[in-house]
Amino acid sequence: MMDKLLFFILSLLIGYLKSQPLPNCEFIDYYGRYYDFSPMEQSVGYEVTLNDLTYIVSVCNTNSYCEMVTGVQGTASCGSENEGKYINMGQYSTMTLGDLPYLVGNPSLQGAQLNYTTNSGCFNGKKGTMTTQINLVCQPGQDNLITSSGLYDECLAYMTLEGDGPCPFQNVSSSSDNSNQFECHFLGDSVAVVYPNQQITCTGQGKTVCSYSSDNDGNLSTCASNSDILCQTQGEIQCFGENLVCSHNSFSCGFQNGKPFYPNQN
Ligand SMILES: *[C@@H]1O[C@H](CO)[C@@H](O)[C@H](O)[C@H]1NC(C)=O
Ligand SMILES: *[C@@H]1O[C@H](CO)[C@@H](O)[C@H](O)[C@H]1NC(C)=O
Ligand SMILES: *[C@@H]1O[C@H](CO)[C@@H](O)[C@H](O)[C@H]1NC(C)=O
Repeated sequence: MMDKLLFFILSLLIGYLKSQPLPNCEFIDYYGRYYDFSPMEQSVGYEVTLNDLTYIVSVCNTNSYCEMVTGVQGTASCGSENEGKYINMGQYSTMTLGDLPYLVGNPSLQGAQLNYTTNSGCFNGKKGTMTTQINLVCQPGQDNLITSSGLYDECLAYMTLEGDGPCPFQNVSSSSDNSNQFECHFLGDSVAVVYPNQQITCTGQGKTVCSYSSDNDGNLSTCASNSDILCQTQGEIQCFGENLVCSHNSFSCGFQNGKPFYPNQN
């Protein structure tokens, strides 16, 4: 029974997710959790040196230091071996986001995999496509740090970047100070609604799925239905559906026949 329900929810979600391209920096994972990595941008990027390899990367941005040392505009990632010359390890324009490996069946894992690539060659002068593969892993409340890194081969570098930055949208608003208002963030067919410490009620007609964190540990609850749906929670919720309304008193937003509508400011 539970398995059937879960399968139903997941197939709904996947159906929605496959239907359109997502903008940079925003991502919805296999479990329907919404991420926005743009707050992880910082001008200096992230740096790590391990076993004679130094990597410098930016998340969702070009890296000005890499642009300087490689002489390549638009690079987001660069590296050097044995303190040698920095090579370009990937252009920002090639960024892709996908699910973390082992995410399926492991919902307590939260985050995404980010790749950059470039055709300008690999380490040791090897020709080919260089890929930087960064596993962004949520660790609530922790500083963002690269915790492991290395080369699978001359053309494939990997890193794990852990911290609060890669945590899903649920609960992140509690840490930002100027967001004490009703907000709706649209991402393709989904809307994430935030109203810190206030009750949010969502109703939908037709296929609708909503998820929200059910406790301070970030555990997610889901409500889903083929006909009518009513979800109620505090603070944050994310929903998919063609016809849905999330509201608190006079504030509301959602989708009407698949078209987003924004909060009224009464
Ligand atoms: C990142 O690159 C690796 C190696 O090419 C690939 O296996 C993986 O699917 C890519 N992930 C994303 C999110 O593009
Ligand atoms: C969610 O927010 C609460 C209140 O700020 C905090 O105590 C809790 O640790 C947060 N949980 C996660 C998973 O970030
Ligand atoms: C919430 O998640 C934590 C850590 O994953 C787990 O130990 C706890 O049992 C979960 N609580 C509920 C109510 O599912």
